Amino acid sequence: MRTEETRPVRLEDYRPPDWLVETVELDVSLDPKATRVRAALTLRPGANGAAPAPLVLDGDGLVLKSLVLDGAELPAEQYVASADRLTIAQPPPRAFRLEIETEIDPSANTQLMGLYRSGRIYCTQCEAEGFRRITYFPDRPDVMAVYTTRIEADKTDAPVLLANGNMTEAGDVPGTGRHFAVWHDPFRKPSYLFALVGGTLACVEDRFCTMSGRDVVLRIYVEPGKEDRCVHAMDSLKRAMRWDETVFGREYDLDIFMIVAVSDFNMGAMENKGLNIFNDKYVLASPETATDGDYDRIEAIIAHEYFHNWTGNRITCRDWFQLCLKEGLTVFRDQEFSADERSRAVERIGNVRGLRAHQFVEDAGPLAHPVRPALYHEINNFYTATVYEKGAEVVRMLKTLLGPEKFRNGMDLYFARHDGEAATVEQFVQCFADASGTDLGQFMRWYSQAGTPEVVAAGRYDPRAKTYRLEVHQNVPPTPGQPNKEPMVIPLALGLVGRDGRDLPLALADGRVLERGVLTVSKPSETFEFTDIGAAPVPSLNRGFSAPIKLVANLTADDLRFLAARDSDPFNRWQAVQTLATRLLVDNVAALRAGGMVRKDLGLLDALAAIVADGSLDPDFMALVLTPPGEADIAREIGRDVDPDAIFSARAALRAAIGEHLAGALFDHYRRLSEAGPYRPDPASAARRTLRNTCLDLLVATRRPDAVSLAARQYQVADNMTDRTAALAALSLRDVPERAAALDDFYARYRDDPLIIDKWFSLQAIIPEPTTLDRVKALTAHPAFSFANPNRVRSLISVFAMGNQKEFNRADGLGYDFVVETVLALDPKNPQVAARLLSALKSWRVLEPRRRALAQAALRRVAAASALSPDVNDIVVRTLGESGTA
Ligand code: BES
Ligand code: ZN
Repeated sequence: MRTEETRPVRLEDYRPPDWLVETVELDVSLDPKATRVRAALTLRPGANGAAPAPLVLDGDGLVLKSLVLDGAELPAEQYVASADRLTIAQPPPRAFRLEIETEIDPSANTQLMGLYRSGRIYCTQCEAEGFRRITYFPDRPDVMAVYTTRIEADKTDAPVLLANGNMTEAGDVPGTGRHFAVWHDPFRKPSYLFALVGGTLACVEDRFCTMSGRDVVLRIYVEPGKEDRCVHAMDSLKRAMRWDETVFGREYDLDIFMIVAVSDFNMGAMENKGLNIFNDKYVLASPETATDGDYDRIEAIIAHEYFHNWTGNRITCRDWFQLCLKEGLTVFRDQEFSADERSRAVERIGNVRGLRAHQFVEDAGPLAHPVRPALYHEINNFYTATVYEKGAEVVRMLKTLLGPEKFRNGMDLYFARHDGEAATVEQFVQCFADASGTDLGQFMRWYSQAGTPEVVAAGRYDPRAKTYRLEVHQNVPPTPGQPNKEPMVIPLALGLVGRDGRDLPLALADGRVLERGVLTVSKPSETFEFTDIGAAPVPSLNRGFSAPIKLVANLTADDLRFLAARDSDPFNRWQAVQTLATRLLVDNVAALRAGGMVRKDLGLLDALAAIVADGSLDPDFMALVLTPPGEADIAREIGRDVDPDAIFSARAALRAAIGEHLAGALFDHYRRLSEAGPYRPDPASAARRTLRNTCLDLLVATRRPDAVSLAARQYQVADNMTDRTAALAALSLRDVPERAAALDDFYARYRDDPLIIDKWFSLQAIIPEPTTLDRVKALTAHPAFSFANPNRVRSLISVFAMGNQKEFNRADGLGYDFVVETVLALDPKNPQVAARLLSALKSWRVLEPRRRALAQAALRRVAAASALSPDVNDIVVRTLGESGTA
């Protein structure tokens, strides 16, 4: 175990900056191994009032070349410069200008933070603390400055030079083979939003006229030859820009908006002001190369980064504890965009599935933390499902509690009140309190208390009094560092569904009004009584998943089948089937472990039969209902002594049972949905393909030879990537001879396209067979694989660790060993990617004893390794939970 303890950063220790930066003039002379950075900062004392404070600038791996204060070189005894700090103990007690020269090596930057090279392109990634790897700076988001960036480079090495804002000047450097460009960003911004790019890039250009009539140039820069794969990204951008005007009244504010796609990127994309930088996976798409799922994600991420221009950039975060202020809010906005552009119900179900699969798991394990953490060791590890997805749910609850008008008023007030500022969660919530006249004091607990609230609801109908009483109890479980919890404010949307499927009017006995069908639960135990209820209703609770809770209601299997068939809320129709399936699967897992038989529940299968026969349903909704809960969902429900093999078997058996029981209808849908004419990526066509491929998958799950050959044929004749990979995925889960042939064919077809070969890696990583671990290990030596590229690592190794529960959790522990060895090998090069991969072990405590011991031993080997990065060290310490710090 490492002996030096890193000191945590605490929210309560926040102090405004001693020194502010007014302007930054950067002059960056690009060179593959020795890039020279000159930064001229105009500094002035902060509003702290006290005696002039020392100036302490952050650095990370920097080498200082020269330091000039107000035009004069600073004598060596007046400052201390190390790789990670530059201190001037006694700066002048007034505004002054500081010129700092550093030299950096972008080619040696394997962390992909700061200035680095992706292939032959120079690019930057500064969030959260990457700017300090470029120059010494107060690298914190509450220091906002106006940036002017001059970039110089070899003309042939980097013909395109980009930075934030508008280009003001460009030209040749006389007598050299070099040229330069100057960019000016008039908006004050924190350093994490700085970006520059240089290289040989092709560009696709379009225009957008904003609602106030300003003309904006839109450019997407990609590797030359890939221009024709930008159509969908550009179209998504324009739709996102229009949507933000229509729905939030927000307009774009510069004359140009640029997106650059690079191949080496730690995350999905980054919202740098006016110059978004994207993982090319989330830009490039054509029918032959991208699936419907890829189109969907590209649209969402393009929109997300664009939406940050107002929620993140114009109003940024005071400190990194407020990360959810920009991320949770922006995820909420991109979810709403997708819901408006596509099917609201399907988007909601997809978002909730993601929330449960990632955030609920995180919230139930050793890495649980509040939406706004109070303490961190390494901020990179807090870009989590809790900050993002639960953070988005918290914003959604505000909207549900206040209603759409007051919510919009609150947002308008937030934009008006805090534009140009670095804000806090309190300030955000205060805007909604002020705009609606609502006390949101208790609501703040959603930001400070970790853990998923457990809600037990029991309803009882009194036929004599014609009342329906709903008793609701809530409990927030203990999480690391938070043993005791206070009750939450829970907006519980509900309906009481009558026998005819219609919602009964909701009148509370005590005269309280139920606005928009939303019950506000705020006490540990509460009873609500509804009057004038003519006959026993079936309660439909937490409609639309109005609160991110675990709900247990006293519903019988009959009630659930009724809701599955009749509920007017599509989310709860889907949920009813999920609940039925989960109950069955949990029973079957227990039966399998006791050496018994899997039980077929015809109740569930009949409910599904009714769904597939319902011609009024959208095909993608039908596909979601037909998809049983995932292995992780079942594990979460079981909660302890988890046996991934038994879970896999029970789920596989259910899928086969569905395929057999519904074979006729599934074959019918499959044939009916065959597209006539060429592929189109629009949502309606995509929905048809989703259902068709779900049918195929369930049929192949039965191992019927006719289904297997249908998949093999679909693989061969597909004219688009969606149908080709769906067929291959269905085949590759089965040990059939067709699989090897199709996998070889796929590689031969796409060997020159790394993003498609990523799909080939992933498909093999999720094969649920004991030979998969060796296959994955062998693939790490494949010429198309590289540990230096995050997309390759994620598509093969993260997909194995997170997407193949059965083989990652092999009973011999070799899956853990492999992942842990990979983490240790990767850590010195790219700690962020290594730390994320290690978080695959976060649920180790719920495993059955044998696997638990093996996983713990693997984690302890990581903890015992020397020279761990702060990123991996933080994850391993918290995951093991042995050090007492939470
Ligand atoms: N600001 C983030 C990118 C980021 C995350 C930079 C962590 C540095 C550290 C960006 O806005 C983001 O959230 N990207 C997501 C995709 C989004 C659609 C949720 C990502 O990269 O995964
Ligand atoms: Zn974001």
